[in-house]
Amino acid sequence: MSKVIAITGAARGIGFATARALKAKGATVAIGDIDETAAKEAGEKLGVAAFTVDVTSRDSFTAFLDAVESEVGPLDVLVNNAGIMPIGPVTEESDADARRCLDINVHGVMLGTKLALGRMTPRGRGHIINIASLAGVLPTPGLALYNASKAAVILFTDATRLEVQSTGVHVSAVLPTFTNTELIAGTQSPKGQKNCEPEDIAAAVVELIGTPRPQVAVPRKLGRQAKLGALFPDRFKQAISRRYGLDKIFLEYDADARKSYDARIRG
Ligand SMILES: NC(=O)c1ccc[n+]([C@@H]2O[C@H](COP(=O)([O-])OP(=O)(O)OC[C@H]3O[C@@H](n4cnc5c(N)ncnc54)[C@H](O)[C@@H]3O)[C@@H](O)[C@H]2O)c1
Repeated sequence: MSKVIAITGAARGIGFATARALKAKGATVAIGDIDETAAKEAGEKLGVAAFTVDVTSRDSFTAFLDAVESEVGPLDVLVNNAGIMPIGPVTEESDADARRCLDINVHGVMLGTKLALGRMTPRGRGHIINIASLAGVLPTPGLALYNASKAAVILFTDATRLEVQSTGVHVSAVLPTFTNTELIAGTQSPKGQKNCEPEDIAAAVVELIGTPRPQVAVPRKLGRQAKLGALFPDRFKQAISRRYGLDKIFLEYDADARKSYDARIRG
């Protein structure tokens, strides 16, 4: 794969695994993250160019893409991966958490998409991949803020894809389920469901770049189930949610185990 690919939020987790998988396929990868030290370390581990970027800032995001294009090459693919997940009862959620979550998860993705389109559209090619979540289609108690942010990413991605489809630029969304990274620290997996590994999401991104599609759920089976489930009455959906323990997972979590993640996302 001879493409220049930039990935945000790739100092760890899904972004890191995606950078490693793409590099293994021959892509020239550049990573960006708000965590300067972690980004540097990840860049060294992966053997890829690493930059500091705050996806919520137009100046910072522009500087990141400028640096990638001048040091690595013209951008073929941007993976808007940076994201955070505050959890807990909606009434206890601070306004600061809500603003930060929407700023990173939604505004950051929109900004990245706009800035990448500005570079890709005149060239008539390119691919923007937005990491959303199955949480964007499955409303869950204790996750309202994150649900809302990922639903916004899904619709924004879809509408943008329709708007630019004649330009040669692809725009796609990836919807992973629970994936073993720090983001889900202190939470239980849905009953009977095996979490994904970051490498599973990375493999889906690699495949998506090879064959662009509007939307990919990981695993795909859960994506199909979520689409089908949406057609059923609310009572049935709630019964399914209880069956998998989803009604409690984000309300009855281990707050101690989540302390370090919470501190990190609150800066
Ligand atoms: N882990 C899951 O269960 C899961 C499931 C579905 C979707 N996702 C999504 O996948 C993406 C990656 O999540 P992850 O699980 O790897 O989380 P993670 O916490 O391991 O990694 C996220 C990275 O984003 C960086 N980041 C945060 N704010 C930033 C900002 N303003 N600018 C630049 N970088 C920033 C963090 O420093 C971190 O390195 C997120 O969008 C998340 O919502 C995760």
